[in-house]
Amino acid sequence: MRRSLSLEPGPDVDDRIIKTAVAPRPIAWVSTVSDDGVENLAPFSSYNYVSSSPPVLVFNCSTKPDGELKDTPRNALDTGEFVVNVVTEDLIEAMDLTATTLPADESEFDHAGIEHAPSDVVTPPRVAAAAVSMECTLYDSLSVYDRTMVLGEVVRYHVAEDALTDGKLDSRNLPVVGRLGGPYYTTGEPIAFERR
Ligand SMILES: Cc1cc2nc3c(=O)[nH]c(=O)nc-3n(C[C@H](O)[C@H](O)[C@H](O)COP(=O)(O)O)c2cc1C
Repeated sequence: MRRSLSLEPGPDVDDRIIKTAVAPRPIAWVSTVSDDGVENLAPFSSYNYVSSSPPVLVFNCSTKPDGELKDTPRNALDTGEFVVNVVTEDLIEAMDLTATTLPADESEFDHAGIEHAPSDVVTPPRVAAAAVSMECTLYDSLSVYDRTMVLGEVVRYHVAEDALTDGKLDSRNLPVVGRLGGPYYTTGEPIAFERR
């Protein structure tokens, strides 16, 4: 048996252990628009899908130091719409630039020089360079301690043709970035492993 530490959950250990152990995490690069029409874009790696048919996604937000909601969940709850863009290796630096706290009337699209493309169903734009974007309408939200979970039903997919093989989205053509603990991210070649 491996020798291990037995630790009680608490503020000194939780953040590091949970974010390192629950990894790699996909990154939802979420675009929203405020009630006042200001576009917003930010990454959230506490993210996954909840159901696949109909498809529902979830991302999870901490509060700002002043206890207020971040712009992304506030916009998603106010307007009922958001777009999840997939972060691939070519977009990691642009994604990082959008993780800054800007005044609510400033857009991360402009701050980071990111080109956007119109969505089909919802108002928030897509990231034009994203290989996959998913337009969502708000399904529900849930508070868990200091976090707000935002669930969205996918109402439209946008998939780059160069990410397809024989008409289907293919992981070999989608070099996604995963978030690990601390300053670490992961990318890498998919390995084919057929279930026995
Ligand atoms: C890779 C990455 C993943 C992140 N994941 C989360 C997350 O899951 N939840 C969260 O609250 N903040 C997360 N952040 C921090 C937010 O992106 C950051 O607070 C951002 O400024 C929020 O922007 P907004 O106020 O425009 O919504 C992450 C940052 C990075 C760089």
